[in-house]
Amino acid sequence: MSIQSLDSYLKDFYQTEKKSLLSNYPGLTLHRLKQDIKLQAFLNGVDSEELFDFPYLPYRSHPITIFFEKLKLGTPLEYITGYAYFYRSLFKVTSDVLIPRSETEILVELAGQEIQKNYRNKKCRVADIGTGSGVIALSLLMEQAAQLDMVITDISEEALKLARENYFNLKYAISDIHKTSFIKSDRMRDVEGPFDLILSNPPYIKRSADKKDVHNQVLDFEPHLALFLDDDSYDAWFDEFFTSIYEKLSPQGLSLVEGHEHHLESLAARAKALGFKEVVVIKDYTNRNRFLKLKK
Ligand SMILES: C[S@@+](CC[C@H](N)C(=O)[O-])C[C@H]1O[C@@H](n2cnc3c(N)ncnc32)[C@H](O)[C@@H]1O
Repeated sequence: MSIQSLDSYLKDFYQTEKKSLLSNYPGLTLHRLKQDIKLQAFLNGVDSEELFDFPYLPYRSHPITIFFEKLKLGTPLEYITGYAYFYRSLFKVTSDVLIPRSETEILVELAGQEIQKNYRNKKCRVADIGTGSGVIALSLLMEQAAQLDMVITDISEEALKLARENYFNLKYAISDIHKTSFIKSDRMRDVEGPFDLILSNPPYIKRSADKKDVHNQVLDFEPHLALFLDDDSYDAWFDEFFTSIYEKLSPQGLSLVEGHEHHLESLAARAKALGFKEVVVIKDYTNRNRFLKLKK
């Protein structure tokens, strides 16, 4: 066997595996793969500039070989490298948390606009319910100049642990004026109001009815706790959540909740029936219903 550089091995690998790679990673380009290998190398202290010129021998325990093996199994790239980009930062992710999605950045953007408009010189108390890796809360803590009192919650102990780790890793970029706490809670049961902003990207896929639309890679690798709710108790789950948002939102407060494109209209009607005066369905950049804006 002739010895190849990693660059030429990668090109051959991509061509040979292209069909199966694209079924697991729609739109995956050779360039993106290269970037992820560079990230992996960088995180492991290897000089990533020259990496692709080095000869590569695919022996079994070589970190790059493990990378290729995991790719063939369809493991999401973010779980392979252990990191995901969100908003303007890099967050650690593990299979205990959802890989943050780009549409959730819109929620951060909307929350940021609200803070800048109404809390420029005032303290703003914020809750992030179901924080996962902490992307929503930590992005706001890093970006916002207003003084935030941020309550970060999840029902999952492992997710909270990872959110704390990301907080620790990104703390250098978070101003000391903010206050941060981490609470394990089912929705808002163990969280005390009032809040000026209640943000959440909760699980919102119906376990049976919506399953056919969920990509196999998501089903196989991402935590079901972060994704699914039982069909039978779906409405009741959100009724309890919306009721506690209503109770714990300050009179001028705002809540932004991400949801499923097919269920947001019906959830909007439920939120109205529970007493919210302003209920707006907001679309994402693909023109799909994606968020609920709730005000008392
Ligand atoms: C869709 S993920 C969102 C994670 C993260 N906020 C993001 O946007 O990437 C939903 C999160 O809610 C958490 N979760 C599930 N059920 C919950 C509940 N009853 N109460 C609070 N959090 C819950 C999951 O553990 C998961 O971290």
